[in-house]
Amino acid sequence: MPLVPLRLVLDHAAENNYGVGAFNVNNMEQIQAIMEAAKETDSPVIVQASRGARSYSQDNYLRHLMLAASELYPEIPVVMHQDHGNSPTTCFSAIKYGFSSVMMDGSLMDDAKTPSSFDYNVGVTREVVQVAHSMGVSVEGEIGCLGQVGHAPVAPKPGTSKPHDADLEKEPGDTDGHDLSLEKEPGDTDGHAPTSSTGGMDSSHLTDPDEAEQFVAATKVDALAVAIGTSHGAYKFKHKPTGEVLKMTLIEEIHRRLPNTHLVMHGSSSVPEDLQEIIRKYGGKMEETYGVPVSEIQRGIKHGVRKINVDTDCRMAITGAIRKVFAENPKAFDPRDYMKPARDAMRQVVIARMTAFGQAGNASKMRAAGLVR
Ligand code: G3H
Ligand code: 13P
Ligand code: ZN
Repeated sequence: MPLVPLRLVLDHAAENNYGVGAFNVNNMEQIQAIMEAAKETDSPVIVQASRGARSYSQDNYLRHLMLAASELYPEIPVVMHQDHGNSPTTCFSAIKYGFSSVMMDGSLMDDAKTPSSFDYNVGVTREVVQVAHSMGVSVEGEIGCLGQVGHAPVAPKPGTSKPHDADLEKEPGDTDGHDLSLEKEPGDTDGHAPTSSTGGMDSSHLTDPDEAEQFVAATKVDALAVAIGTSHGAYKFKHKPTGEVLKMTLIEEIHRRLPNTHLVMHGSSSVPEDLQEIIRKYGGKMEETYGVPVSEIQRGIKHGVRKINVDTDCRMAITGAIRKVFAENPKAFDPRDYMKPARDAMRQVVIARMTAFGQAGNASKMRAAGLVR
């Protein structure tokens, strides 16, 4: 089955009240883990690649791996999505390489660090929507910024006003700069969700529902990422999050105003305690930390959340499995000895999320409804 646009999958999810996990990939094993999980659970799939992932894996490898996935699993509808495109140029090059969906993240300037103005965001997002829609490609936009923006923005590196390919120049391990989480170290007193001097959320960069309404009307995006207090990476919250720091009520308000807009939750890894424990047990260092509880995501799904971005949990599963092999078998050096358990550990995380988000069982329903062939 050819890759399908994000809009097709999210429309079906909205009509049937479920959410769809969007899992980040950088290599073949991660794609295999997702596709096997989708097959086992009969789920539609959103695979996404950040700029860092595209630069690490190279667009041609990624494109052919995705084509292989759609050939090997013809029964599964698959979306290939650009995560956090920092400029129209990045989005257009993704479309050129066969992505069926792009995120134009105009909440930040093209350095992917500096918060932008509303007008800039509308301008770049509208430009991408016009081109993408004419080619049958979907577009996700973002209004508001993810966590850590309470910190001073990082100045762009000298000489980085960069056209085309340089837009992809980004090292693995960089976040897309999106939440400035490069500035946060595990164990920083400030290393978790941003707080104001009064100890509550610094709400200045959360999504403003008025702006969300204006933004959707002005851009015609297919999906809208909202900032409700989450951040990328493992260090989101110092304590199990309450409604003070994880503003699910904001989702409810935005959904009330935009009932027909598909909402996207970024930074939605749950950072499970058991995966933290495995990493620690086999020699890794991880401070105590809390992610977004799956139950809160399920609450969001009841209020218009249709796409849920998960990367960190998969990274943790892979890392824990590899550490375990090396700790228990220091003589191992065949990459398959550790890549197979790593792939399997990620598959299990993806199965759990696909089941919890309600997308399980819906690939065949999409086919039966004639939405995909
Ligand atoms: O946007 C954040 C995702 O986890 C991707 O991370 O930029 O390190 O590939 P990355
Ligand atoms: P996590 O770091 O919580 O997995 O978030 C991933 C994400 O939002 C990718 O865009
Ligand atoms: Zn994100």
